[in-house]
Amino acid sequence: MAHLWSPFTLGGKPLPHRLAMAAMTRGRALPDGTPHPDAAIYYGQRAGLGLLIAEGTQPSADGQGYLSTPGIYTDAHVAGWKRVADAVHERKALLFIQLMHVGRMGHPENTPHHRQMLAPSAIAAGVDIFTAEGMKPAPIPREMSSADVRQTIGDFASAARRAIDAGADGVEIHAANGYLLHQFLAANANHRDDDYGGDSLRRVGLPLEIAAAVVDAIGPQRVGIRISPGLKIGGIVEGEETPEVYRHLVRELSRLQLAYLHITHAGDEDLLASLRQDWHGPLVVNRPGRARSAIGEDVAAGVADMVSVGRMALANPDLVDRLKTEQPLNEGNPATFYGGGAAGYIDYPMMEATAAESA
Ligand SMILES: Cc1cc2nc3c(=O)[nH]c(=O)nc-3n(C[C@H](O)[C@H](O)[C@H](O)COP(=O)(O)O)c2cc1C
Repeated sequence: MAHLWSPFTLGGKPLPHRLAMAAMTRGRALPDGTPHPDAAIYYGQRAGLGLLIAEGTQPSADGQGYLSTPGIYTDAHVAGWKRVADAVHERKALLFIQLMHVGRMGHPENTPHHRQMLAPSAIAAGVDIFTAEGMKPAPIPREMSSADVRQTIGDFASAARRAIDAGADGVEIHAANGYLLHQFLAANANHRDDDYGGDSLRRVGLPLEIAAAVVDAIGPQRVGIRISPGLKIGGIVEGEETPEVYRHLVRELSRLQLAYLHITHAGDEDLLASLRQDWHGPLVVNRPGRARSAIGEDVAAGVADMVSVGRMALANPDLVDRLKTEQPLNEGNPATFYGGGAAGYIDYPMMEATAAESA
């Protein structure tokens, strides 16, 4: 694990080590999508992680799909995120806000305008979504028109500008985990016959255009992007062409000289190694469910420059100190992952408290 604790520079800014917090939706925003005041406490507590990638945040009302996720498209949202950025900066960490457009992975009942969800094609995700009335199937989405596509590109760019206005160090474009941009990449979710669909090279079009528009808006060193090549999630199945699609995407993204590429690793080690070659900037890798003892392996092996963790960071505000001093970790409570109040959000104990409890 020693390899994790060497300093690194990301987006031109210094980081004390190579462990980051991955984006995690917590479903606690105010009804208008402004981050809850407790979000400043939650992220501030975790600032020892150095790079905090904040939860999936909709760049527009269209991009929301879950209950009580935050937005970054109104002045009130900016004011809420400013509180978060200030708390994170007070402890000298970096804040990147993840721009997440869910596409078909949501329910209109969870959005402010209750409109039909948007997606590359009118194909349902085949998953259930939590709503105020319990779980409901994600409905068939509306195929995006070319005007919708243009609007969405503009929404990402203006959300990125607002994130910077709020004091964030950058944004992470969410092109992973079954959401809108992953839907465009995947042949089984994208049946379009325009410039954004069809063969595998055209399916990378929208993620690339959005990345370029966000770079134009705020500059490349403030932009990261997350992908999950081959991850089966939300009805997405990427077949044999996965390496071709992602190698092309990553080569093209590499030209933009972004702050980082974040890969959720779905198991294809050869592909991860190829993408490492194709990408000429900082690479952050997330291996879902990785054991504590293995966290440093990708950095030690040169596969990644940094690694991100999700649940360990959620449950351990002082994760870095615990890892460095080989102390036990708190277990996260899945019952309070999404929604609710302070419990399971800002009350996970620090080391001293855990030690006192078990004494
Ligand atoms: C409660 C929860 C919410 C999540 N929300 C997001 C999200 O908003 N955006 C995202 O890219 N990944 C999200 N993820 C995935 C995590 O970033 C991470 O990839 C996953 O938890 C696996 O890593 P881990 O084993 O270290 O937890 C979420 C995971 C959890 C547990």
